[in-house]
Amino acid sequence: YEPLRDAAARKGKTFGFAYAPHIAAQDSQYKAIAQREFSMVTAENNMKWDATEPRRGQFTFNGADEIMSFAKANNQKVYGHALVWHSQMPNWAKQITSRDDMRRAMNDHIKAVAGRYKGQIEAWDVVNEAFEWNGTRRQSELQKVMGDYWIEEAFRTARAADPNAKLCYNDYSTDGINAKSDAIYRMVKDFKSRGVPIDCVGFQTHLIVGELPATNKQNLQRFADLGVDVRITELDIRIKLPASQQDLNTQAREYGQVVENCFGISRCTGVTIWGITDKYSWIPQVSPGWNASLPWNENYTTKPALASVAQAM
Ligand code: XIL
Repeated sequence: YEPLRDAAARKGKTFGFAYAPHIAAQDSQYKAIAQREFSMVTAENNMKWDATEPRRGQFTFNGADEIMSFAKANNQKVYGHALVWHSQMPNWAKQITSRDDMRRAMNDHIKAVAGRYKGQIEAWDVVNEAFEWNGTRRQSELQKVMGDYWIEEAFRTARAADPNAKLCYNDYSTDGINAKSDAIYRMVKDFKSRGVPIDCVGFQTHLIVGELPATNKQNLQRFADLGVDVRITELDIRIKLPASQQDLNTQAREYGQVVENCFGISRCTGVTIWGITDKYSWIPQVSPGWNASLPWNENYTTKPALASVAQAM
């Protein structure tokens, strides 16, 4: 079949994946698929706060640089992930207790990372996962120390650091219309009305097989109608092991449906899957006994999901 990146390009979309450079270094099949199938790269871990600033003011860009050069060599765009997030936030930053100091640490971090790759990043997840399922703000260290203001502050700082990157808010369990996506919708609407620089919303779309919300497309569309781009940023669909043929078929249908939903919306920029193969998926670590979540299985033989994705493009 035609590389998925080419099929996506014909529709004006990108097809992306979460990339782990240490895996490419030891697994030639992984690397070959990474190069052939995708037009966009997200760092699975290497651009996060703990990876880029393990000690305050001391930046380590080796992994992130490696991702930039891989993408460049393969003519792929880079989706930056993530500037500010409560998870994989270094301990030194979590321990800050004064508002001004937390603000300074956050802004210095954004300036350094977004500044280093200025002009080379298609879009940044400026803020990741700041809301709870019920629509309240997550009580992270950032939230507790700085108050509600921290999110817009992060967006303003990111805009100044890289005026050409699209600036996104990204979260999970926001794939349908629910209390959490409603709260984010209200935030985006408010930001747009007050001129806070936000350009896009990412929907992680870490799904459990059989649970794709019926309102998925309607939800993406209502955000697009606010005047922001939308994207499926971390798609995977987990199955309780051992996966039955029926599970794999349901999964295939849902992979195809998500791609179709995005490709049917002009402001949806494309779909990124969170990995390539089940072999290295993050799912067994967070959800023991579950996996089979990606379009390629452990042996790189393809699953029904892959054909379904290709067909939906
Ligand atoms: C995950 C990675 O896949 C793992 O390797 C890491 O141990 C933890 O983070 N939401 C996100 C991603 O925004 O950054 C997370 O990635 C998965 C959930």
